[in-house]
Amino acid sequence: MKDWLDRVNVRKMRETDLPLIEWEGEYARYRKVYQEVYRNQRLGVTTALIAESPEDGIVAQIFLTKKPPNEIFSPEERYLFISSFRVKEPFRKRGLGSLLLKMAELFAKKEGLRLLILNCAQSNREGLAFYKNAGFEGYRIDDGKWRYIDHEGNVREECEPAFSMRKRV
Ligand SMILES: CC(C)(COP(=O)(O)OP(=O)(O)OC[C@H]1O[C@@H](n2cnc3c(N)ncnc32)[C@H](O)[C@@H]1OP(=O)(O)O)[C@@H](O)C(=O)NCCC(=O)NCCS
Repeated sequence: MKDWLDRVNVRKMRETDLPLIEWEGEYARYRKVYQEVYRNQRLGVTTALIAESPEDGIVAQIFLTKKPPNEIFSPEERYLFISSFRVKEPFRKRGLGSLLLKMAELFAKKEGLRLLILNCAQSNREGLAFYKNAGFEGYRIDDGKWRYIDHEGNVREECEPAFSMRKRV
């Protein structure tokens, strides 16, 4: 699998990736959210990294957003917030998730940020173990409530109780 990983290219998201990261419709509901992420990337606030291999196309993504201090996550310190981090199922456990997380850490340092924060669903035992192994610690409970407008213009509400996790780099 190492050879496969060597062939994976990680780059910034392009506008033409937007339909592709809907993953054959599985994430079509996030179309407007992704468009907003792309706009934020153009503004320099978010960097969306896309991983692709020559034979498999897009296989993973991770969104990195520079955040100012705020009462909810980090009252005193700026941080890098990780979101929409996923590796397509058939390509997991090949080291790609760890590689992307490492790239997120390097990106944070380059941007002068020493703190990484993310939310992981409480029900996602594998994800929580993965982050723990990568040096993240849970430090707050998040109700995981958020609203967005889906691709058909409907307001959707999601509620996935999560643990906020952080790592200092
Ligand atoms: C969590 C997630 C991003 C991890 O991605 P991944 O590519 O599978 O990550 P890695 O391959 O680097 O590591 C996963 C595990 O496989 C192991 N692994 C890595 N390379 C391996 C290999 N070649 N052979 C066997 N196992 C391997 C790692 O040791 C790691 O074990 P750990 O979880 O006990 O630390 C992925 O499982 C995913 O997309 N899950 C669904 C969405 C999600 O949960 N996102 C994160 C929460 S918001």
